[in-house]
Amino acid sequence: MSDTNWIDALAADELPTDDVIGVEVNGRDIALYTVGDAVYATDNICTHGQARLCDGFLDGHEIECPLHQGKFDVRDGRPMCEPVTEGLRSYPVKVEGRRVFVRVD
Ligand code: FES
Repeated sequence: MSDTNWIDALAADELPTDDVIGVEVNGRDIALYTVGDAVYATDNICTHGQARLCDGFLDGHEIECPLHQGKFDVRDGRPMCEPVTEGLRSYPVKVEGRRVFVRVD
C-alpha cells in the first residue's frame, strides 16, 4: 500500500472532542472518533443493521450503536457485546498539519 492511499478526510479543527463524527472518504461512510489526543476510524455502518455509529454514544474507546446498543472498540473495530458479533473494519488515521487523513485501499 502506498502513501497515495491516504485520503484527506477533514480539517483537524472540525474533529469533535471525545466524540464521533461521520465523514465520507472515497465514497465510504467512515466514523472518526477522538479519545483524548488519539483519532480512530472505522466503517460508520453497524455490522448488525443499518444504523450509523456517528449517531451513537462514545464512551472512552467504546462506541454504542444507536439502534440496539451493540458496542464496538473503536481502536480496532472488534465487537464488545451482543447483539453485534461481527467487527467493524478499521482504518489507519493520521493528523498532519491541519488536516485529518484516513488510509483506505
Ligand atoms: Fe447496531 Fe443493531 S443495528 S446493534
